[in-house]
Order: sequence, then structure tokens, then C-alpha cells
Amino acid sequence: MLNRRSFFNHSLTASLAAFLGFTQCESPAQTENTAAATPSKSNPNSKAVTPAIIATWPHKEATGPAMDVIQEGRSALDAVEACARIVEADPMDQSVGYGGLPDAAGNVTLDACIMSADGKAGAVTYLQHIKHPISVARKVMEETIHVMLSGEGALQFALEQGFEKEDMLTPKAKEKWEKWKAENKGAPAKANIDQHDTIGVLAIDKDGNMSGACTTSGMAYKVPGRVGDSPIIGAGLYVDNEVGGACATGVGELVMTTLGSFLVVELMRQGKTPQEACEAAVQRIADRHLKEGDDLQVGFIAMNKKGEHGAYSILNGFSYTLHQDDQNEIHEATFMMMNPNQE
Ligand code: GLY
Repeated sequence: MLNRRSFFNHSLTASLAAFLGFTQCESPAQTENTAAATPSKSNPNSKAVTPAIIATWPHKEATGPAMDVIQEGRSALDAVEACARIVEADPMDQSVGYGGLPDAAGNVTLDACIMSADGKAGAVTYLQHIKHPISVARKVMEETIHVMLSGEGALQFALEQGFEKEDMLTPKAKEKWEKWKAENKGAPAKANIDQHDTIGVLAIDKDGNMSGACTTSGMAYKVPGRVGDSPIIGAGLYVDNEVGGACATGVGELVMTTLGSFLVVELMRQGKTPQEACEAAVQRIADRHLKEGDDLQVGFIAMNKKGEHGAYSILNGFSYTLHQDDQNEIHEATFMMMNPNQE
């Protein structure tokens, strides 16, 4: 499996892109409206649309089965959970779930949230020892009166719900952490593009309803206790079933302080296309937080209710997976500036 961080650090050559099945994206802003004319049987008030799934990063292995969930007639909520779970279970993915890189003390701490078409949400932060934080987040949404559980309380809740306690630190992740500790003498990691990212996913089901999910192990070697944007509703993820949804990846601190995903959705509500909204949110981060030479990365994906999508990032190297119209493809996102550290 391709290491996503290599996307940050190296330009994709055309041959590599072809090998991986990448398609050079025409401007997503020009994406055709995929809305169909006939209303759905199960919801006569909704306009039937082509089901669609969009996820941050190259995750065809997860968006494919998630689309199967939708084609079986299940909900967008089931689909985004299924998508996130596949990535959470992958030991080779070092920024999500099992196999994720630990904090500075060597503990893998996981953040996740989920948001359904009826505007409900569930989230867990600083969750340890559980392979599927996204499913715990869904349980928080469905089985409690709360939106977010954290740390030990989230773990106890997960165990009560029947989740198993497991060791999340793989030998590979442990080895990397030990190397980092030796080289950095335990100093906190710099919040740069090399050390983390996230999977965020949005889906539209056959009834035209949208849901989203976001899950991560967060910034590698983070200060113990740190929570990023991914489990924060409105930061790492936001879905409004009347408008559309958005997800963020990258340096969480930049996303949290601009409430990036909420901003993208609100801009779509005001009439921007998903692409225009993603670009405006990145611009907001740049205006507020960035100075010349910074190599901090944030990327957004967005999809509106018509199935139009957009994606944009601060630096080159961000990619996303779009499963729509029987095509499950990886696309390179457009970006604001070149990575100053890139060759
Ligand atoms: N975007 C993931 C994090 O900052 O934790």
C-alpha cells in the first residue's frame, strides 16, 4: 500500500500516477451535476441522486466496499462507517486506527466522529485500545444523550458496548516511535506535514441522504493529551443534509481554529460550489495562520447534495478518492502553493 506521506514529499510522476490508477482531475468545480430526475421510492420528497462517496487520500480499497453497502440499499451512515472501519483496521496505515503512530509517550490515542443525515453526531477523543473508534462514535450518537466522550470514559463506554480491548501499537509503529525518541530526545514533534493525516469520508445514498465520518490517530508523537480537529464536529467533519458535507485532513490546529468543515458547508449554503468553498476555507487558513515558507498542510474535500464535489489543499500532494457513476478513482487535488520542502 502506498504511504500517504509520500504524497506530501514527492511529486507524482505521470507513470506512477498511471500505475496507481490516478486520473488527473479536471477542475472539480466543473464537475457535472449528477442529480437524476426521478424521486426515490423510499423518500418521495427527496430527489433521487446518483450515490456517491468521497474520501480523503487514496482509499479505493475502502470506498469500493462502502459503495457496495449503498448499492445493497443501506444508508449513507452505514457506508461511511464501513469505509472508515476498513482503514482503521489496516496495520499499514500509520495515521488511522490500528497501526497508527503513537503520541510522545508511546500511546496510540484515537479520535473519530460521525454525523448522520438527521443532523445527529457522535464523537470520541483520546480513545485508547479500541480498533474501531468510528463505531464507538456511532454508539455515542445512537446510545447516549451526548455527542462526545473522551479518554477513560470513552474506553469504559466502548467496553460496556461490547468492543474488545486490544493493543493498538504495532511493532512497526513502535520501532518508528523509538527511532523518533532517540533522534529527537523526546522533544514534541513539529506540527508539519510529514507526521499525520486522516481519513474523512462523505456519502450520498440512494435516497439522496448524506452522512460523514472522520477518524485518525492524530499527529504522530503529539504531546500526550492532545486532541486534533478530526473528532470535532464542524472542524474535521460537518454534514448538513440540506446542503452537503465537508471533511478536513492535515494539521488539526489550523482546522480547529477556523472551524474549517463547517465553514465549507456554510459557504456552499451561501451558493458556492464545493470547489469554491474548499478554496475559500484554505484561503481563510492562509490569511489567518500562514506565513511565507511554512510547510503546513491542510486539505478539504466537499460534496453537495447534488453530488458535485470539490477538493483543495494548502500544499501540493493531497489526493482524494471519488466513487461515483460506477467509477472508483483517485484524484489529485488542486492546491494553493508548492510545498517549499519539495524537490
Ligand atoms: N487532522 C488530524 C489531526 O490533526 O489530528
